[in-house]
Amino acid sequence: MKEFRVVPVIKQYDTVKEFCSQLNPQKDDLIFVSGGTFKRYFEGLTAEAKVVDYRQYGDGEPSDDMVTRMREDVGAFEYKRVIAVGGGTILDVAKLFSLQEMMPVLDLFDKKIPAVRSKKLILVPTTCGTGSEVTNISVLLLNSRNTKLGLADDALLANEAVLIPELLKGLPKRFFAASSIDALIHAVESFTSPKASPFSRMFSSKAISMILNGFKAIVEGGEEARMARTEDFLLASTYAGIAFSNAGCAAVHAMSFPLGGMYHVPHGEANYALFTQVYKVYQKLQPIGAIQELNQLLTDILGCSEQDVYEKLEELLNQLLMKQSLSAYGVKEDELELFTDIVMEKQGRLMANNYTELSRENVLGIYKALY
Ligand SMILES: [Fe+2]
Repeated sequence: MKEFRVVPVIKQYDTVKEFCSQLNPQKDDLIFVSGGTFKRYFEGLTAEAKVVDYRQYGDGEPSDDMVTRMREDVGAFEYKRVIAVGGGTILDVAKLFSLQEMMPVLDLFDKKIPAVRSKKLILVPTTCGTGSEVTNISVLLLNSRNTKLGLADDALLANEAVLIPELLKGLPKRFFAASSIDALIHAVESFTSPKASPFSRMFSSKAISMILNGFKAIVEGGEEARMARTEDFLLASTYAGIAFSNAGCAAVHAMSFPLGGMYHVPHGEANYALFTQVYKVYQKLQPIGAIQELNQLLTDILGCSEQDVYEKLEELLNQLLMKQSLSAYGVKEDELELFTDIVMEKQGRLMANNYTELSRENVLGIYKALY
């Protein structure tokens, strides 16, 4: 049985001003937005809504500790709608605030507390990567466990995903590169997932070609070319989000989580560190199947032969974000066994979507090759 669905209503606006006039913020709205984005786009447009500047709770990707502090500060404030404006990580946090009960957050992630939706949830991405606005997943860094963990539950699906290309204009180049490479990996992993359907593959392949052709244009035309394509990249990341929310991500994501969890490597960058090596191993283990279609799509875009496809892909991506070895991130060689254990024991949800089965030996081999 194959199933395909898109749950949130997807709305597109040209400007934040237009969005806010439709949203009509009220005093029982809880809005998560960084101070910088608020100042640049939302000042004077949020009426009496309660605004939480999540950047005050720490830099980088959110952890269980940060969520706990935010929940304490929101306290007894009564709200009916949660509106989140930001990168995937804050959208993931906002999803938790739309639940009837979210504390203790570790219990929620361990499924000791059931996820029950009780507030309306509106998600507005400011990056072009995670696709979080259309997925039912919230990923948190669990400090006490040294890794990231995803909670997947339909109670976490937004009511509305709102796309405003204007918000991407201020994204620094490095964040843009990491987030759009993350979206590319969502599209690729969902394309080769055993759960892929003709519908999800349509979204995956469109996202792959929009992102890679966009990268080629940026390599040639620089920042100007990027600014001309913000809407394309935002659409592509949402397409990729739709694809992977149906077909799933897999080993690249699973194997990047210990790197992100222990060494705080940003999500897209950690994924890129693993990406091509995982596909080289898939290609070796199972050259017949969806990977052939993927390679065809990639060779058409990159204008190369199938044998060089992952090298050429890396060459293009390196011009946006240089791939680094695991040791360059500070990983120690004797930790590769621990990384492998974490993946094999804790990331079953993602590893179930691998193009072909990866054994413990395969996983350790990939880490070693990238060390
Ligand atoms: Fe991702």
